Parts: sequence; C-alpha cells; structure tokens
Amino acid sequence: MNKSSRKAIIAGNWKMNKTRPEAKELLEAIKPLVANADGKVEVIACVPFTNLETAINATAGSNVKIGAENVHFEKSGAFTGEISADMLVELGVEYVVIGHSERRQYFGETDETVNKRTKAALAAGLKPIVCVGELLWERECNITEEVIARQIKLDLFDVSAADAKKTVIAYEPVWAIGTGKTATADQAEEVCAFIRSTLAKIYDNATAEAITIQYGGSMNAKNCAELLAKTNVDGGLIGGASLKAADFNTIVQAAVQG
Ligand code: 13P
Repeated sequence: MNKSSRKAIIAGNWKMNKTRPEAKELLEAIKPLVANADGKVEVIACVPFTNLETAINATAGSNVKIGAENVHFEKSGAFTGEISADMLVELGVEYVVIGHSERRQYFGETDETVNKRTKAALAAGLKPIVCVGELLWERECNITEEVIARQIKLDLFDVSAADAKKTVIAYEPVWAIGTGKTATADQAEEVCAFIRSTLAKIYDNATAEAITIQYGGSMNAKNCAELLAKTNVDGGLIGGASLKAADFNTIVQAAVQG
C-alpha cells in the first residue's frame, strides 16, 4: 500500500470560533468550492458543539463531513458540561478531534483520558482524529520521537487494528500551532514517517500503511502544497486557515493534486 491508496483528509478545526449564523455562512461558502474533491479527498469541518446541528443541516447532501472538537468517555451520567459519543452520533456527527494540544495544555487532558475518549468514540461509531505533538522544549532536547512514541502507544492502548484503521492521527507540533511557525515539509515528513513506523510496531505494516496521518500547525494556502506532497503526510488539520473559505479550499485543492 502507498500514499495514493490511503484516504486523504483535510479537516478544519474551528476551535472556539463562529456563532451559528456565521457557521452556516462559512459552510455555504465552502461547499461549492470543495465539491470537486468528492471521492478524492475527505473534507471535514470540526466545529464547536453549539454549531453541530446547524453544520450538519447546512452540509446535508454535500461532500463536507462534520466533526466535533471533543467527546467525553462515559456513556452518560453526572458529568456536568460534557457531551457523550452517543449524543454526537445521534446528531449525525462522523468525526471527533481528541487530545488536541490546547485541551492537553489548558484543560488537563492526559494520554489516559485521550485513550478513554478514543475508545468511547470508536465504540459509538465515531472516527477519532487523535492529536499528538511535541513541545518546543521537547524538540530542543531532542526527544521528539520519544514523546510521540509514548503518546501513540498510550493514546491507542487497547485499540484493535480494525479500530486503528478507522482512526486518524494528526501530528501537530505544539510550537507550530497558531504561531505562524510551520514545521518544514521535511520535519513534518520525518515525524509522520516515525508515527507510521510506531504504528507498524504496535500493529503490523498493513495496518500502519492504511492509517491516515495528518499534519497540523500553521498549515495555510501558501505552505500546504509542499507539506501535502510528502509521502507520509496524508492530509491536514487546519486551524486559522479553515475559517476562510478560499484558503481552506486552496488546501483542499492541494490535497486533490496530491
Ligand atoms: P493553526 O492552523 O491555527 O496553527 O492551528 C492548527 C491546529 O491546532 C489544528 O488543530
């Protein structure tokens, strides 16, 4: 198996942005632009919980899929403020971002909770986008590979090979998120290839080759083509640039080109 047989996925992570009318407007603008990607590149918008129903209605019948930005690991109960996987599935949500570095940094997310959320999402039929990435200090200390291997092993602990194939891994170096500092295409490729080799050790080559690995961190209309051309970079998880229809579309079109 090689890159062309893996599913290319471009996902926007809107973070804490857009009211419902704004979400509808942005999705209405994105839909016609990315329609030609149908069957070639999976196009996803991961939106705040409050926008999910609006986003699902706005994209019905189009090739734009909708994801959430987090999910709780328990099925139901006394967890004030949390949203379960069943609630997301019932809405028509297909994907969910798990373990984003902002959740790890600001909301106490750990590899253990990332693992629990990933398993809960998979059990409910959601496709998780599991985020991993090193801090700048960790890169400077030359332990990027150790950090990434640890995250992959813990985050996917007890996830079967069949479920791992439904999981997307997003490599997001923390120092590149929202900073305008992008990893070079070679740096992104090096870590994405390392992630694939780690997956091959946990599972097997065929499983590792089937898993979509995205790069995220200041990916934009200018740098996307170079990043997406790399062998082990199968897509992108886009923050700021996903809030502008034209820029997001440029990234989708770069993925269509391969
Ligand atoms: P930026 O594209 O704004 O750097 O954000 C990346 C990100 O965190 C996507 O999840």
